[in-house]
Amino acid sequence: MERTFLAIKPDGVQRGLVGEIIRRFETKGFTLVGLKFLKVSRELAQQHYDVHRERPFFTGLVEFIISSPVVAMVWEGDGVVASARKIIGATNPLTSEPGTIRGDFGINIGRNLIHGSDAPETAQKEIALWFKDEELVNWQPHLTPWLH
Ligand code: TYD
Repeated sequence: MERTFLAIKPDGVQRGLVGEIIRRFETKGFTLVGLKFLKVSRELAQQHYDVHRERPFFTGLVEFIISSPVVAMVWEGDGVVASARKIIGATNPLTSEPGTIRGDFGINIGRNLIHGSDAPETAQKEIALWFKDEELVNWQPHLTPWLH
């Protein structure tokens, strides 16, 4: 079953949006398989955003991610990687569609509330970076077969 890595960034936590954000993935029907609340180390933040290391916003982004706690999560379900990206919305909240998390709650690209893996391969790397195997729970909600 496909899995994705999501992280509610410091602004999402500080603004009291943890419940609202988790609710959107729960009510969509995806399955939570990993969840933790942590202050991110500089090393983890740098590794997580390694593809952006040469970009001008990299240093500020890392400083922001380590500034205050985040909620790291793994969600499971058919097509969850792409679907979660749709639920999250475009990178710049000023242009994200209303109805998406960033479109509904954000106005600043540097404070866009949540991270979501951009492809299944990236998701696998990010899950391995943020979670140990034993921190992920293998379970089935035992509802209808189409609801993951
Ligand atoms: P990116 O991976 O392009 O976006 P997404 O989070 O939608 O996958 O960029 C990673 C984060 O870097 C993004 O969420 C916010 C920050 N960022 C900036 O602060 N300024 C920028 O110009 C860009 C492109 C990203």
